[in-house]
Amino acid sequence: MTLKSRIIGCGLYVPERVLTNEDLEGMVDTSDEWITTRTGIKERRIVSGERAVELATGAARMALKEAGLKPKDVELVVVGTVTPDNIFPSTACLVQAELGMKSGIPAFDVAAACSGFLYALDVADRYIKTGAVKTALVIGVDVFSRIIDWKDRATCVLFGDGAGAVVLRQTRGKSGILSSHIHSDGRYWEMLYTPGALNESPFEKKSPHKPFLKMKGNETFRMAVKTMGEAIKEAMKKNRLSPKNIALVIPHQANIRIINAIKDRLGMDTARVFSNIERYGNTSSASIPIALYEALHSGRIKRGDVILLVAFGGGFTWGATVLRW
Ligand code: ACO
Repeated sequence: MTLKSRIIGCGLYVPERVLTNEDLEGMVDTSDEWITTRTGIKERRIVSGERAVELATGAARMALKEAGLKPKDVELVVVGTVTPDNIFPSTACLVQAELGMKSGIPAFDVAAACSGFLYALDVADRYIKTGAVKTALVIGVDVFSRIIDWKDRATCVLFGDGAGAVVLRQTRGKSGILSSHIHSDGRYWEMLYTPGALNESPFEKKSPHKPFLKMKGNETFRMAVKTMGEAIKEAMKKNRLSPKNIALVIPHQANIRIINAIKDRLGMDTARVFSNIERYGNTSSASIPIALYEALHSGRIKRGDVILLVAFGGGFTWGATVLRW
């Protein structure tokens, strides 16, 4: 049997502070009714001082505990994030240091906005499949509250902060990642982006931009439905699957209407498409690993189940991963 990687531990970490739609009503011209009907979000978690590395480390500790491993057992750390605490060192290096992992292992971040976790998973899976490492820690973490314009009602109601993590282990068994498909199209970068936040040097003019996320919501919505639909088709074709063979789809949690559109395209019922968006909003790279943890620990995933993860984000980037649990 060929080498595969299998998830042997999951973890999540979200800040304690809850920001409800009612709280937002006091901050911008919006309403709980608008946010709920247009997005499905009721509340989100927001940091009050915690750094991205603290969230990432919290999720990683939980995943390692569930895997029954020590930080010293990890041979590779890949973190999906676009909101690191520092431009460098990477969040992965900070997590490595914080948890006391072995010196010398590769540790790096991957930037693919809301597709960041599936990109990071893809990279780690390839390291494991080629035999380069046996155990990898994959984390999705984002702190979008730091790049949101809290006066812009069109975007500030959508996002939340958090982290999720998984431990991957090499296996020759039937369970594990069956295929992974990641894509991007940089021509669409202006649909969803954050202007640079670097200081100007004495050799160039001052940038007039504030480092706030900008999004063309309607276009992004349409592209999210289209590209995630294509990625699902590609992943199903590769594994000769039809929707009836898939026990659970875990889509990126950006908008309940996007999730429902995917569900309708697949002709699947609500029970087989996971959503927790009402409690977290869009946590970018953290959204899929948080959802995976909650799906697993609420009994929605059983041994042998075929699970499909699908994501979309700024770049544009998108992707899908099929795994047998
Ligand atoms: N409260 C009240 N009204 C609002 C709010 C708000 N928070 N935000 C916008 N509105 C208003 C608009 O001003 C507009 O008013 P108008 O008709 O008077 O001009 C009206 O509501 C409708 O606005 P739309 O933008 O057309 O609303 P839509 O139904 O498209 O929903 C949304 C907007 C939720 C942003 C949706 O387009 C969306 O979810 N887009 C995709 C988001 C996404 O998938 N992002 C990708 C991942 S993110 C990442 O990678 C970083």
